[in-house]
Order: sequence, then C-alpha cells, then structure tokens
Amino acid sequence: MRVHVLGSAAGGGFPQWNCNCRNCDGLRRGTLKARRRTQSSIALSDDGARWLLCNASPDILQQLQDFPALQPARALRDTAIAALLLIDAQIDHSTGLYMLREHRQPLALWCTTPVFEDLTRGNPILDLLKHYCGIDRHEIPLDARPFDIAPMPGLQFTAIPLRSNAPPYSPHRDRPVPGDNIGLLVQSRDSGRRLFYAPGLGEIEPPVWEAMRSADVVLIDGTCWRDDELVALGASKKTARDMGHLPQTGAGGMVEWLAELPSRTRRILIHINNTNPILDEDSAEFAQLRAAGVEVAWDGMDIEL
Ligand code: MLT
Ligand code: MN
Ligand code: ZN
Repeated sequence: MRVHVLGSAAGGGFPQWNCNCRNCDGLRRGTLKARRRTQSSIALSDDGARWLLCNASPDILQQLQDFPALQPARALRDTAIAALLLIDAQIDHSTGLYMLREHRQPLALWCTTPVFEDLTRGNPILDLLKHYCGIDRHEIPLDARPFDIAPMPGLQFTAIPLRSNAPPYSPHRDRPVPGDNIGLLVQSRDSGRRLFYAPGLGEIEPPVWEAMRSADVVLIDGTCWRDDELVALGASKKTARDMGHLPQTGAGGMVEWLAELPSRTRRILIHINNTNPILDEDSAEFAQLRAAGVEVAWDGMDIEL
C-alpha cells in the first residue's frame, strides 16, 4: 500500500491567509526553517494506478498539480481518483468536492450517515453537486465491521468511530454523535500491513487505542502542541480539546500516548495547525518529537507499507 500526503496542515493551511503568528509571519519572511503546507488530505493506493482520496481539501487543485500520479492522461478527461472517503464534514475536509465537479460520472463517495446529513443540510454541498457530476454515495458502517471500497480491491477498511467534534455549522457541534468523526484503519490484503489515519482525534478511547496498537503506521492528529495554544495567542477562545483535537502535550497528551505504542510502530503527526511550534524545524518542540521518534508529516510525503 502506498500513502501520499497531499495536505498536512489543519484548517487554514500554513501560512494562513490572515495570520501573522510567529510561524506564519516567519514563513512569509523566510526567517523560519519550515515548509508551507496545504489543508488536510491523503491519497491511498494498492496498485499505484487507482487512488482513494481521503478528504477533499479546499487546496485540492494545487494538491493534484503537485502529485502527477493522479493525472494519468489516458483520455481527454481523466483522473486516477477512483473514489473518495470523508472522515468528517469539516470545511477543510469537504469543500474540495466543489473543485471535482467536472468529473465525467458521479463521484464515488464513502461517508457516514451523520457526515452525509451535515453535507446535505448545514452545508448542502452534496445536493448542490447534483447540478454538476453528482455523487454516488456509499455508507460507511459504524459497527467496526470491515468494508470494501470496490475500486480499491487490494485494501480493506474499518471505520473507528471516535470523539472529536462536528463542524461549527452542524446541529451536533459540541454534542457529537457516533459517525460525526471516524478514524480509518486500512489493511493491505497483500502485505497485511495496516495504516491508522485520524487527523481529528479528541480522545483515545479503547477502540481507538486498539486500532492504533494494531497499526504499522499511525498518521494522527497533530493540530496543537498545547491545549491553550490559540487562546494564549489571542487567536481564539477555544482550546484544542474544545475543537476536538487532543493536544500533543500536557497530561494524557498525544506524545505520551505515542510513547506507549509498540516499538515497531511508525508515528506521524498530520493536520498541523499553523500556530504549532513543531512546524519550525529549529524549535525545541520539533527536537523533542524527533528524540521521541515522532515524525511530522509534510506535503508530498510518501509512505510505503
Ligand atoms: C477542525 O479540524 O477543527 C476544523 O477543520 C477547523 C476549521 O474548520 O477551521
Ligand atoms: Mn480540520
Ligand atoms: Zn499562523
């Protein structure tokens, strides 16, 4: 299985258009050792020819240009995107669907029922797309049963319902229901190796921990270093946990959890907010992660497993 990171930043990207935090300002000025990053999305493939897009970021057109494997150029209108899957209904994970409206047939889309409801009500993007290519929607089961995505026969998928948060426009905001957010366990039928992907993860409950422990690679929520990161900056009144993101530090933070994984597990943070000090590769926080064997995903990162 091949995993390609299309976008490694959280909502807003890096730098964020209206932000002058130390990171965003430093990146623009060229004074920071850091990479620019687009918003949260990965692509998965078992054969290198057909790809599953996990999340459709508002930066998708740039991401497609930066990853030529997704344009095999076999016909006048073509794509290697065989299917899409959404792990939640957040803006940074869904609005890229608008950019795929020229598809020649309905977009094959896997999502849970609560995500489908948010994307046909509060943010009715899936209804609107009926006026363009349309959507061929498939339901993601929430009972931890493995499911198939027909165009990806070499991969087996399991959704792990988890605690994060529904989007601000959702009737479930701050009262999420199962299926508002999932983690995705993907197993290669060929090698048996497993990826656990959860860019929005607020709490590591037993089924999530079991999935993490069973994986060869965890590609996991790296939004904020500190719980009060945005509050301390004066950028928001919300803590990372309020937004459904487990911070890396503090008691019970992500770094502590990752240290408990089996030594063979590759640990990679993704969905990094532009305020997070780990984006600065000269920072003490980046050095601390490196010493702990934790990687920070970047746009274009390729993972073979
Ligand atoms: C989140 O991950 O909490 C959201 O994507 C934030 C946002 O929409 O900006
Ligand atoms: Mn997000
Ligand atoms: Zn910033």
